[in-house]
Amino acid sequence: MQNLLKQQTIASSIEDRLPVTIAAHTRRVYDRLASFYHFSTMFFHSKAHRCALEQSGVCDGMRVLEVATGSGEMFHRLVKANPKGATLGLDLSPNMAARTQHRASKRFPDAFARCQAVDARYLPFRDETFDAVISCYLLELLSQEDIARTLSEIRRVLRPRATVTLVLIGQNTEVFNRLYDLAGSLVPAFWGRQIEEKMTDFLEEQNLRILNDCVVRQTFYPSRVLTARK
Ligand SMILES: C[S@@+](CC[C@H](N)C(=O)[O-])C[C@H]1O[C@@H](n2cnc3c(N)ncnc32)[C@H](O)[C@@H]1O
Repeated sequence: MQNLLKQQTIASSIEDRLPVTIAAHTRRVYDRLASFYHFSTMFFHSKAHRCALEQSGVCDGMRVLEVATGSGEMFHRLVKANPKGATLGLDLSPNMAARTQHRASKRFPDAFARCQAVDARYLPFRDETFDAVISCYLLELLSQEDIARTLSEIRRVLRPRATVTLVLIGQNTEVFNRLYDLAGSLVPAFWGRQIEEKMTDFLEEQNLRILNDCVVRQTFYPSRVLTARK
């Protein structure tokens, strides 16, 4: 009952541009951008990726999952930090997943690193498989119901006391927020909408306890990096 009330509170307090996940559109858009997407990472995401790696506590020998790898820049960092462990990745876009796999196999031929095209809402792994899960800039693209579903899936595949690290688009800059809102209204399948301010509630709802919370800015682009324990 309390959970239901909380869900309703979260739902009613976000003016939602994505009442449903538009996964087919999102897959098409990101599939087309797979060859160029690394520029966006280079200019806007790499600082947050560095911070997420540090915060995640990933170290060699772990079983690590990255959810929504994009073109594989964070995945590259994870495999590098975990050469003797297992690093798995997934992305909705087959082109993004293929690119991530190709780059990892080329750069780290001896590491166990696999990336496949999978929808994050339905993780194809057993309960309690991973020591760490990382996901950067994904949740903005999911409906509120699917954010809860995806976090619940992430929780399910985490080992007891393992952690999830999430990178979100920051909402602490008024002008940026207005521009993002405009971009999101024009191409929702690519931009989604900002949800960072509600993340604490979403995590609490899934019984994930926040350990670290950090804000970074690269160029003009704000990000929030949150690590939570199961
Ligand atoms: C904004 S990009 C972020 C990529 C990468 N994580 C980064 O930090 O640069 C969002 C990614 O999420 C993927 N994505 C969107 N919906 C997804 C879903 N339901 N399951 C898995 N991946 C999804 C897209 O294909 C895209 O590659």
